[in-house]
Amino acid sequence: MRTKELKVSAIMDGTVIDHIAAGKAFTVVKILHLDQTHETVTIASNVPSGVTGKKDIVKIEHRVLSPEEVSSIALISPNATVNIIDDYEVVEKRLVELPDTIERILRCSNPLCITNHEEVRTRFNVETKAPLAIRCHYCERSMKEKDVLRVLG
Ligand code: CTP
Ligand code: ZN
Repeated sequence: MRTKELKVSAIMDGTVIDHIAAGKAFTVVKILHLDQTHETVTIASNVPSGVTGKKDIVKIEHRVLSPEEVSSIALISPNATVNIIDDYEVVEKRLVELPDTIERILRCSNPLCITNHEEVRTRFNVETKAPLAIRCHYCERSMKEKDVLRVLG
């Protein structure tokens, strides 16, 4: 059997975000501010996965994501897995999970919301996960995926 495939290098230690929805790797890069890191970041987009599917992968060397960062990935790709790599081995595999409430990581899209004027931590209740719909605890503004992407950008 002869196969031709493109291999993306394994990393020594850090984080591999795998099974990202196809085409969403660049959004992950944006929300984790990976354009501002000094570590090596590898992005693979539209990689064949399974029989007919495609996925994206983001690898970040020497860095372990915080729980808030992992939840922010769930906002844009609920089926992603976060693999922690140490000495070339996967030492932990976490499924990203969207919590029922989201604190801090997002800004409210309502310019009049108190969270945009005072030192109040933002808080949103997740109403539906797919398609995404969240509601601001303070002003009750509803936000869908496109609104979330806009405030993240
Ligand atoms: N990986 C890596 N560097 C390593 C080890 C693993 O970049 N030193 C990557 C793999 O290429 C893969 C991901 O981390 O994209 C998860 O690795 P592994 O659990 O070994 O792969 P699978 O078993 O295919 O994972 P899953 O069951 O989650 O699909
Ligand atoms: Zn609000």
